Amino acid sequence: MKILIVGSGGREHALGWKLAQSPLVSAVVAAPGNPGLAKIGRCVNVAATDAAELAALAAREQIDLVVIGPESTLEAGLADRLSAIGIPCFGPSQKAAQLETSKAFTKDFCARHAIPTADFRVFEDAIRAKAYLGTREPPFVIKADGLAAGKGVVIAETRREADEAVDQILFLRKFGTAGQRIVIEEFLPGEEASLFALCDGKTAVFLGAAQDHKRAFDGDKGPNTGGMGAYSPAPVVTDAVIAEAMEKIFLPTVAGMAAEGAPFVGVLFAGVMVTAEGSKLIEFNTRFGDPECQTLMARLDSDLAPVLLAAANGDLSAAPPLTFSPRPAVTVVLAAQGYPDTPLAGSIIRGLLEAEAMEDVDVFHAGTRLDEDGLLRAAGGRVLNVTATGDTLRAAVNRAYAAVGAIDWPGGFCRTDIGWRALE
Ligand code: AMP
Ligand code: GLY
Repeated sequence: MKILIVGSGGREHALGWKLAQSPLVSAVVAAPGNPGLAKIGRCVNVAATDAAELAALAAREQIDLVVIGPESTLEAGLADRLSAIGIPCFGPSQKAAQLETSKAFTKDFCARHAIPTADFRVFEDAIRAKAYLGTREPPFVIKADGLAAGKGVVIAETRREADEAVDQILFLRKFGTAGQRIVIEEFLPGEEASLFALCDGKTAVFLGAAQDHKRAFDGDKGPNTGGMGAYSPAPVVTDAVIAEAMEKIFLPTVAGMAAEGAPFVGVLFAGVMVTAEGSKLIEFNTRFGDPECQTLMARLDSDLAPVLLAAANGDLSAAPPLTFSPRPAVTVVLAAQGYPDTPLAGSIIRGLLEAEAMEDVDVFHAGTRLDEDGLLRAAGGRVLNVTATGDTLRAAVNRAYAAVGAIDWPGGFCRTDIGWRALE
C-alpha cells in the first residue's frame, strides 16, 4: 500500500511512524509533512487545505489510502473529492465533519438523537445572548460555533467576563467567521476525557481513551490551547464509562449520521465529561486528537494500516482487531515561547538525537522546519511532542521529562505536570 498522510503536525508524524512499520505499507507520502515525516517518507509541499491539489496528488502518485489528520482538510472537502475519483480515504466527508466544524449542528444533532450533552442555546445576536446570560448562573460556557483551533471556548466565572467573551466573538470577530454564531451552554462539573472510536459509516469500534491538558501552564492555569500534553489510558475511563459511551454516544451518532445521509467514516473523537449523572458529550472532533493520537500510537501493538483501509472501504469487520499495550504512554508538548497567542518563530532546537536515543522515547515533530544550513528551527506554536511509555504512568512521565531535559531549546517551554490527575 502506498499511503498519503495529510497534515504537518505531531499527530501526522505519529500516524506516519506507525503506518511505516506495517509490512503492508510500501511507501508513505506526506503533504505538506514536516522534518519528522521526511525521515519516514517523501514530503510534498501542498497545503493541507488545498483539497483540489491534494486529490490531484493522490491520483498522480497512485495512492491506495489517504489518511487525513487535520479538521481543516475535512472542512475543505478532501474526502468528497477522493470519493469522486475512487481513492479510499480515512476521514469523513465535509457533511459528516460538521460534527466538528459546527457546534450548533452537533448540538441540534444530539437533540434529534437523544445523545446526552449539556443544555444549550444558539445565538447570532450579542444583545440577545447577553440577555440570556442574565437568566443563568455562573460559570458561563460560551463557544464560537466553528473551528477555532481549540481556542474558541470561554468558561467565564463572572457576568462581566461572559459579556466580554460574547463581544469578542460576535462583535470583534476574534475567531472570524467561526464566530458568526455562538453556543451558550450549561456548565458540566466532572472529569473530562477523550474517547476515540473508529467508524466505517455503519458502525463504530472503540479505539481507546486519553486525557489531554488544554491549559497552557502548570496547574491548569492560563489560556486554552490545542493541548499541552496527554496520557493514555485514562483511569477515569472505566469499562463502564466505555460501555456507556458506546451505547449512548458513539453508536447512536454513527447510526444517526447514516440515517441523515452523511455516513461517518474515520475517527470520531468524543470529549466526554464523566459526571455524577453519567457521561455527557462536550464536543465531537472528527479526527484523531493532537496530542492524544501520539499516546495511542505509542500503545498500539497491532498493525494500523489494514484497519484504516477497512474503515475507508466501509467494512471494519474485514479488518483484524486492534490490540493495545497495557503500558501507559505520555506525550509532553514543547511549545514556542509566546504560545498560544504569539509564538516566537525561528529559534534553534538542538539535542533531538540524544532525546530520541533514550529507551521507550519517541520525539514527534509538530511545528519544525530545517533551514538551509540543516539546523532545526521552531515553525509553529506546538513544536515538538516528546512521547514515552513505561511500566507505570509515573515511569513513562519520568522518562518523557528526562528526554525533554536532553533537548536544548531555550525558545521553548512545556508544562511540567503532564499526567498529574492520574498520578495523584
Ligand atoms: P471544547 O473545545 O468544546 O472541548 O472546550 C474546551 C474546554 O472547555 C473543554 O475541554 C472543557 O474542559 C471545557 N468545557 C467545554 N464545555 C464545557 C461544559 N459544558 N462544562 C464544563 N466545561 C466545559
Ligand atoms: N487535543 C485536542 C484536540 O486535538 O482537539
